[in-house]
Amino acid sequence: MKDILQELESRREKARLGGGQRRIDSQHKKGKLTARERVELLLDEDSFEEFDMFKAHRCTEFGMEADRPAGDGVITGWGTINGRLVYVFSQDFTVFGGSLSETHAEKICKIMDMAMQNGAPVIGINDSGGARIQEGVASLAGYAEVFQRNIMASGVVPQISVIMGPCAGGAVYSPAMTDFIFMVKDSSYMFVTGPDVVKTVTNEVVTAEELGGASTHTKKSSVADGAFENDVEALSEVRRLVDFLPLNNREKPPVRPFFDDPARVDDSLDTLIPDNPNSPYDMKELITKLGDEGDFFEIQEDYAKNIITGYIRLEGQTVGVVANQPMVLAGCLDIDSSRKAARFVRFCDAFEIPILTLVDVPGFLPGTSQEYGGVIKHGAKLLFAYGEATVPKVTLITRKAYGGAYDVMASKHLRGDFNYAWPTAEIAVMGAKGATEILYRSELDDAEKIAQRTQDYEDRFANPFVAAERGFIDEVIQPRSSRRRISRAFASLRGKKLQNPWKKHDNIPL
Ligand code: HXC
Repeated sequence: MKDILQELESRREKARLGGGQRRIDSQHKKGKLTARERVELLLDEDSFEEFDMFKAHRCTEFGMEADRPAGDGVITGWGTINGRLVYVFSQDFTVFGGSLSETHAEKICKIMDMAMQNGAPVIGINDSGGARIQEGVASLAGYAEVFQRNIMASGVVPQISVIMGPCAGGAVYSPAMTDFIFMVKDSSYMFVTGPDVVKTVTNEVVTAEELGGASTHTKKSSVADGAFENDVEALSEVRRLVDFLPLNNREKPPVRPFFDDPARVDDSLDTLIPDNPNSPYDMKELITKLGDEGDFFEIQEDYAKNIITGYIRLEGQTVGVVANQPMVLAGCLDIDSSRKAARFVRFCDAFEIPILTLVDVPGFLPGTSQEYGGVIKHGAKLLFAYGEATVPKVTLITRKAYGGAYDVMASKHLRGDFNYAWPTAEIAVMGAKGATEILYRSELDDAEKIAQRTQDYEDRFANPFVAAERGFIDEVIQPRSSRRRISRAFASLRGKKLQNPWKKHDNIPL
């Protein structure tokens, strides 16, 4: 019996070494952790339970039968993050470059199936040379099996991808279909075709980092949602994100202990809006002052900064925040910000996360590049996302809410539950200057008259009361009591039930 137990331990030990000490050292030299070290850091201590530790590939081409390492280049299993169940796979670059074989794919599919059945998130740590070249089409089939599960799991359990090495070719499409992608600066990259192919086809000379590094994907392409300094930081931020999310689409988000009084009054908010209506202020200040303990987890922080998306907690409960940022492009909506916010709103709605919308929007960004780029369709995404969302929706207009952007930003007309405004709100078709120039074109030469007309327009429309008279604004509230009012609003909506008409699926403008 002792020998049998010994045998198990020695097999386990060998499996844990993956591709061997030399390759582990080389991984460390690149500033990367091993697949196992990553899982250990991601999960609660001693919570990881592994599946298929001894699974090996079945390939007999290119002399592969002589080299069948246990685990086949991916570590899979389940564990907990702050006590809550998650499933995880972590590709092991030390084994055939973490490349995906038929059996490697089977291991990933197994935990994805279990995650869907048991209602828990899937976290995928990607570090792979892509399809296992020796396996040919069997490997491509493996990818497609994973893709199909990504699609089926979408909107059922949260899926998070962490890119910690290469992720190239068709392999990028699995992370692309997950809810969040985190990357590590300088050691991860994603692209459909690498620098060599790019050079051959388009004659462009570009490094892997420039083409598909963390900075590119968080600032330019918006493929990734966050970029982090190293493996340790990325994994601890995944833990932080998971704490905000429900385990599946039938569960409410977790309720965390909170120490911040929901009725906390913040006098500084009374002076947040500058006297000059064209001066910017930092909307993030409002977000952090509203949320419990000032905690804010931002998504896509470096992309389309004219809109802010992320999570706060109110009375310990997760709330998704979408907010115009007057500091960037005056907070206007454009193609990028509409796409960014629409995807965020849809994630929140799919996973029963209530949405708080903070509005200070002068309208949509004008210009040929916007129109040629299809701002009509992209702007419609955000409109559509808000209109279809059935989760509790609370909106606060702090200053401008002009034109179509007023309608889009979770207005009363899109089934907003609570629509608040500060007394500084200006709700109108457009700003006073633009409006008078159109209405009184014949008087444009008379500066004095135009100034008077502008003043009249401002007096009439640059306030929240016209909308409040019609019930489009439920109440005009004091800035300082915003946290109390919004917390109470969400508390009153905890039992909200609203269903859209049956359909196979909608046809959101893509
Ligand atoms: C089998 C692979 C492999 C692969 C790497 N290795 N990629 N084995 N299939 N796809 C092995 C190497 O032979 C090597 O083995 C070890 O992994 C480490 O690779 P190195 O090249 O030494 O590492 P590095 O210099 O860091 O370069 C990493 C790399 C490079 C950039 C990923 O290995 C590479 O370009 N690999 C091929 C990538 C590729 O073209 N994949 C197919 C893409 S198409 P030893 O024994 O020496 O340690 C694709 C389609 C998916 O993925 C389709 C889905 C629909």
